Formats: sequence, structure tokens, C-alpha cells
Amino acid sequence: MALSILEKVMKKRGLSSVLATLVSAMETSVIIEDDAGKLLLSTEGAERGVAYPVTASGDLIGWVNGNEKVAAIASLLSQTADSELEKRALVTETLDKYKEITLLYDMVEKVSTSLDTKEVARLVIEEAKKILSLTSVSVLLLNKQTDSLELIAEYGHKPETTTVVRRGVGIAASVWASGRAEIVNDVHSDSRFVSGAVGISSLMCAPLKAKDAVVGVIKLGSDEAVSYSAEDLKLFSTLASLASVAIENAGLYEQLQEAFYTTVYTLAETIEKRDPYTGNHTKRVMEYSLAIGKTLGLSEEDMARLKLGAVLHDIGKIGVRDSVLLKESSLTDDEFEQIKMHPVYGEEILGRISQLKSAIPGVKHHHEKYNGRGYPDGLKGDEIDITARIISVADSFDAMTSTRPYRNGLTLEVAFEELKKYSGTQFDPAMVDAFFASDVMEAFYTASSRQKIII
Ligand SMILES: [Fe+2]
Repeated sequence: MALSILEKVMKKRGLSSVLATLVSAMETSVIIEDDAGKLLLSTEGAERGVAYPVTASGDLIGWVNGNEKVAAIASLLSQTADSELEKRALVTETLDKYKEITLLYDMVEKVSTSLDTKEVARLVIEEAKKILSLTSVSVLLLNKQTDSLELIAEYGHKPETTTVVRRGVGIAASVWASGRAEIVNDVHSDSRFVSGAVGISSLMCAPLKAKDAVVGVIKLGSDEAVSYSAEDLKLFSTLASLASVAIENAGLYEQLQEAFYTTVYTLAETIEKRDPYTGNHTKRVMEYSLAIGKTLGLSEEDMARLKLGAVLHDIGKIGVRDSVLLKESSLTDDEFEQIKMHPVYGEEILGRISQLKSAIPGVKHHHEKYNGRGYPDGLKGDEIDITARIISVADSFDAMTSTRPYRNGLTLEVAFEELKKYSGTQFDPAMVDAFFASDVMEAFYTASSRQKIII
């Protein structure tokens, strides 16, 4: 059984022995009981006499029995209990605040390292689950084109939950319009209630703002009857503003990334246009390379440099003269030496642009061979960067299957045979296998104009 308040106070620093000494000095005796009548102290020769109440913050917590002298003991115990309770409240409050601050700090740490909107939203949900009592959360972001809020991350929802919020419909729309966070402790009797919130009994909803404009809302709710307090709303609003900043940053970063890839892609296309017969070669090499990378389970970082490398693999051809690059008849040794310089020119170009440096290994070594007989450096096996080994398979396969003015492209079957034939000499066998196991094969199988290929 839990100790009563007075019992706890008496146990503090051996207070009962101090009291016994005090009582004997006062030449009296005492019986102390808690509010449930449990005897806590009885000194020698004690008689009940008068009962003096002991209180803590105005509430009765026990009795001190004896003659009139023991009134002082009742008052001493009451004061001790009061200060004990205050101290405990202060400790609890401090601990709560500390916990809140730690959690919010944790959240700032985590979300500020992520530059992906959905990942940020997911982290925000994880943090909300830690600090507030809830059974569901949704993060909705504004889609300017449709002028509606769309669900980008959620936790604990029922399948019937709405994933799009339109203006003027429901509580989230109301927060979107007002820009003010709200608590709704009885959702079903709220006039704005829409059936999408099935099961939810209480909720809190806060706006996500970017430069004073509402760009989304975060909503959390509980199916159990909890009463969210003003304190909860304050905490939730802080979380929402942290989320806003992180989501805005992630959004800007995503836009920047998109602009960056568009620019890089345009650059690669400009080169490709010098040789109109290559039509979409860059795009296909990128698709095949990424499919191989995905099959191999490359890290996000390797996938990013693989994408850049694949798009830019022939960027160095800008340094090769048209008369050589576009020559339809066979090349002389000297001309072939000039063509072989394009990976090196590629490295020189990319070396000047810090954002493109990560593509260099893929670009410089996409003509290396697994057995060391390629160019420009004659690297072999694992000495060749993995992105280059992947691009080599993707680039060769597309070159084999593309029709040029002076020759027809190989059929897929023949090209597959070639890849297998040169697996282990020209190509890394692991890359060839990954290509055959990739999503790209699915597309070849289902292409209606092509025969089903047995690999
Ligand atoms: Fe090349």
C-alpha cells in the first residue's frame, strides 16, 4: 500500500525521532496518526487528549493527539508537509519542462538534418507521439494548383480518413483559414465536424506557416476522451512552428535539386543534339543505370552521383571535333585516340563545378573494362568506381540496341547475349546480373511491339 502524505513526511530525515526528542524536552507525550487513522508515532505514556489537525496545502493529512502543548507539533508538521509538497511540485514541473525542452531540442536536431519533406513530416509525427497523448496524427500540405491540403504523412488513421481538405470543409480547413491553432475536445458536437474524422473524440490542429502564410496544417487526435489543455496546445504549436521551418527548408531544397537536375540534363542534351541520331541516349542510360543501382541497393548518396554520372557521362564529347565525333566511316587510329579523350575532358569540365564533382568517377571511367583493357586509365575490377561499372553496362547496351545511320541496332536478344558474352571481361558480372534482375527487364518483356524474350 502506498504511504500516506504524513507518513512520507515523518519518514523524511528521521523526523519521528526528532519529534520524540522534542516531545520529551517539552515533558509531554503524543500520538500521531495519518488521515486514515494509521498510527505513526506514540510516545511513552501518551493519552489521546485533544486532536490537532495536520494539513498540507489546506488538506487534512493527519492528527496530533495529546495535551495543548502538542498543538505546536501539529503546526510544525503542517509547515513541513507544505514545504515538502511545494518542493515536489517544483521538481515535477522542472522535470516536465526539462523533458519538453529535451524533446523539442531532439526534434530540431533530427528534422534540421533532413531535407526531404516527407521525411520531415514523419519525424514530426514521431516527436508528437512522444510528447502528447494521441492515437492519430496527420500532416497536410497545401497544393497551390488544386488549392487544397493534401495528406503527406500520417499515423494511426482509419482507411476512411479523408486525405484531401478543401477550403471551408471541416476543422482543419477552419485552422487553414484562420491561421490559429485550436483545441476541439468534443469533436462530434463541433458544427464543423465532417464524417471523415470517424472515431476521433478530441483533437488539436495547428497551422504550418511559411512567411505568415498558411502552407499546411498538422492535426492530431485521440479516440479516447482526453481533454487537451492550453499547455498541450502551446507545446503542439511550438512543434508545429518547428515543423514549418523544417518543411519550408526541405521544400526549398527540393526545388533547388529539381532546378539543378533540369540544368544538368539540359546541358547533357545540348551535347547530345550535336549528334541527332543518338535521340534520348542520355535519358535511357540514366534509366538503365538507376535501375541497376536500385537492384544493387545502392545508398542514396551513391544513387545521386550515379544519376549525375549517367546523365553527364559523355559531356567531354564537347571537346571532340565534329569531323571526328560525327564521322560515319571508320575512324583512323589518330581519330580514335581523339574520341578516347572524352572521359578526360569530362573530368576537366566537371572538376570546375563543385556540385558536379561527385559525378567524376562515373564519367571518367565509363569506358574502363573489368579486365583492365579499357581507357583512359586501364583500371580493372573494383578499382573502377561502381558508378562507372554500372554506366558502362547501361551505355554499351543502349549503344548496341540503337540504330545509327550507318548500322542497324542489334535486337534485344542479341544485345543480351553480348552482355553475357563480355561479362567478366568488359563488364563487371555483378552489374550485368543486376541489369537482368532490374525493373527495366519488365519493361522489355511488356513492350507490345517486341517478342517475349527468354533470358
Ligand atoms: Fe562515352
